[in-house]
Amino acid sequence: MSSVRFLTGITTSGTPHLGNYVGSIRPAVAASLRPGVESYYFLADYHALIKIDEPARIQRSTLEIAASWLAAGLDPDRVVFYRQSDVPEIPELTWFLTCVTGKGILNRAHAYKASVDKNLAAEQDPDADVTAGLFMYPVLMGADILMFNAHHVPVGRDQIQHIEMARDMAHSFNHRYGEHFVAPLAAIEESVATLPGLDGRKMSKSYDNTIPLFAPRAELKKLIAGIKTDSRAPGEPKSTEGSALFQIYQAFASAEETTAFAQEFANGIAWGAAKEQLFERIDREIAPMRARYEHLMAHPQEVEAMLHAGAAKARAVATPFMARLRQAVGLRSLVASSGAGPAKAGKVAAASFKQYREKDGQFYFKLVDAKGAVLLQSLAFESPKHAGLAIAQIKQDGLSALATLRGQLAQEQASPEALQAALDSLPGDPA
Ligand code: TRP
Repeated sequence: MSSVRFLTGITTSGTPHLGNYVGSIRPAVAASLRPGVESYYFLADYHALIKIDEPARIQRSTLEIAASWLAAGLDPDRVVFYRQSDVPEIPELTWFLTCVTGKGILNRAHAYKASVDKNLAAEQDPDADVTAGLFMYPVLMGADILMFNAHHVPVGRDQIQHIEMARDMAHSFNHRYGEHFVAPLAAIEESVATLPGLDGRKMSKSYDNTIPLFAPRAELKKLIAGIKTDSRAPGEPKSTEGSALFQIYQAFASAEETTAFAQEFANGIAWGAAKEQLFERIDREIAPMRARYEHLMAHPQEVEAMLHAGAAKARAVATPFMARLRQAVGLRSLVASSGAGPAKAGKVAAASFKQYREKDGQFYFKLVDAKGAVLLQSLAFESPKHAGLAIAQIKQDGLSALATLRGQLAQEQASPEALQAALDSLPGDPA
């Protein structure tokens, strides 16, 4: 009954185009509306610094991407939508992960290797113009993911290696310090088409063949008119196979519309008329969002406020989790028990778990100290059995169970030290 967490980041280094919309924004917004999923979407602006040293461009791209996602229907009340650089725990966690990541693993990262290979081919120093930021890119990304213990990370194929590295980092850290991290999985949407661009190759900023998602109507029309076609004359049957025009249409149309469009191709529709139809079909989907986009672009303070609210939600998770991780690695109060030194004098009076049913008919538990103060509060469970299993897990795994159970616990909880002391005091403590 604990929900599945999805998390993905968007590097703030460009203007969203139709390919981003079809390949990532639209499926992500749809996924965020499914019940039982918790979605974390964030603007990866620390990652953007690796590629871009123009401050105004980073700022502009951050606004454009945030406005695009919101205009496309992302509901900031349902998801955690935030800017990476508003969560200082992420760079802190990056350092922790840096210290458990083999340098050799990073040497093998595709993006870094591509730069090195290019330098070698040009008979230059292998690391010429390679920043340590590029080298560390996968660790920062690992911190993004592990910070929120995401289960699934929707990404393009080019990012699979990074997710695998994040899994490695989770395992190395857990191996040294106990079970704190969920090992994430890449979620690759097989059904989502990669959109061809104006020249028929994959739509991508690096090919300069994109159609901006929120180009004004007139510009959208002009860009669509520039999509590469063959030279078949009006009246000549056209092939849908390999037609960028047709593939883009398909990404926006229903199955029936697509069949009808294919029929028009067979009937010899003129390219001009086909482009007109494509333009109208895309604009039908985009126009309502475009109005919202333009509003947000003109009111950046509204976007800023939403991102702040998102960062507050993200930090409500990140801050206590980071405190626990600091504790785990030994960055902790000199006064607290080290777990290695001489035993603490005098045991704390016994704490206990209380299970109960609320008026809402659901089942809950809490951990209370000897004086009855609540140290840990669960959220609702559908049955006493589920609540009992969660308690058993905490008794067995101690604090590390809290990461796995996080979706089932209230956010406010006692400090890791207080919780540990209470768990140690439980009667029949298995640890
Ligand atoms: N590297 C990703 C990309 O370029 C962006 C990104 C940064 C990301 N951090 C992430 C994606 C964490 C998923 C999860 O597409």
